[in-house]
Amino acid sequence: MPTSSQSYPMSGGEDQHSYIHNSSYQKAAVDGIEEKTRQYILEKIDLLNLNPDLSTFTIADFGCSIGPNTFHAVQNIIDAVKRKHLKESQENSLVFLEFQVYFNDQPNNDFNTLFRSQPPSSQQEYFSVVGVPGSFYGRVLPRNSIHIGYTSYTTHWLSKVPEHVCDKKSPAWNKSYIQCNNLIEEVTKAYKVQFTKDMSVFLKARAEELVPGGLMIALGQCLPDGVPMYETWSCIVKDTIGDCLLDMAISGLTTIEKIELFNLPVYFPEFSELKGAIEQNGSFTIEMMETEDHPLEAMQLTNDFITSMFRAIFSKVIEEHFGNGVVDELFDKLAKKLSKQPIDFEKCKKQMVYYIVFKRK
Ligand SMILES: C[S@@+](CC[C@H](N)C(=O)[O-])C[C@H]1O[C@@H](n2cnc3c(N)ncnc32)[C@H](O)[C@@H]1O
Repeated sequence: MPTSSQSYPMSGGEDQHSYIHNSSYQKAAVDGIEEKTRQYILEKIDLLNLNPDLSTFTIADFGCSIGPNTFHAVQNIIDAVKRKHLKESQENSLVFLEFQVYFNDQPNNDFNTLFRSQPPSSQQEYFSVVGVPGSFYGRVLPRNSIHIGYTSYTTHWLSKVPEHVCDKKSPAWNKSYIQCNNLIEEVTKAYKVQFTKDMSVFLKARAEELVPGGLMIALGQCLPDGVPMYETWSCIVKDTIGDCLLDMAISGLTTIEKIELFNLPVYFPEFSELKGAIEQNGSFTIEMMETEDHPLEAMQLTNDFITSMFRAIFSKVIEEHFGNGVVDELFDKLAKKLSKQPIDFEKCKKQMVYYIVFKRK
């Protein structure tokens, strides 16, 4: 059964601030692994072994948001499976294959926009498209029902803000910081503990949902081992959002007390933490696990790009805590601060894109 989890979807709808129009950073990473995914499926997946009578191939995207990235990722997987199926069919008689796709996200994800923006049915290669509202920190699909699971840019979202980071009396109090920036050891520990618990629940659920031999493909952002979050540019942006909130408290638009009670439920693990989590679960073999630079990292991202991207990601969680009406002012301030003090990309350390393929034993 699904477990409870706080839920902060990306900005919905189709206006200029929506995730649809501000997810090209994530898309660049998704595109970057397409070829590897195709190759992997062609070379390594064994349809005959999976089930020679298989007629419905099921794919699930966990944390799909509202597109367009999910549709690209799913289509890429389908193309590769079709090619593999054609190849294997020449040697063995395989049954005609149809595809079923499950799109999972939190119940308050904008599923209407997701389904409205799906490719026209004439281009669509799957018959059954199913929305699966529920937290992926728990079972959301039947046992042994998925052949390929996919997730991108999702599991850094924790099920909740770790305990004590908003508690002034605790050594894990994060003062007026709004994220785990690795500056306070006890805070880092609290976030790590929450991440480890959440990953364990995520992997246990996927282990039950995937068929034996089924694949899970995961990508997202992590820290290279030993690199603290505060040395990365994305940490600097989030700390700057915190500074903007403090400015807003000075001008009476919010209060320091409110800021001290706010933390982002987001944690970027080190690469080895991810590996440890999968090994610890024990139900999967790691088939491929690597990191690479983000494809856009070589470019100087503009302040407008950064502001719009962070707004599409964090508006909901900020609104939920600070109320309606703070978001416009906050992100105007962020844009101004960033133009006064631009990010020095040369000096910052990079987060890496991780790409992991693991197989259900
Ligand atoms: C940054 S978006 C990534 C969307 C898409 N996968 C992509 O690569 O563009 C993160 C998504 O994860 C979803 N998410 C976060 N926690 C979740 C949970 N516990 N269960 C299901 N979805 C979750 C969010 O609602 C959001 O849509």
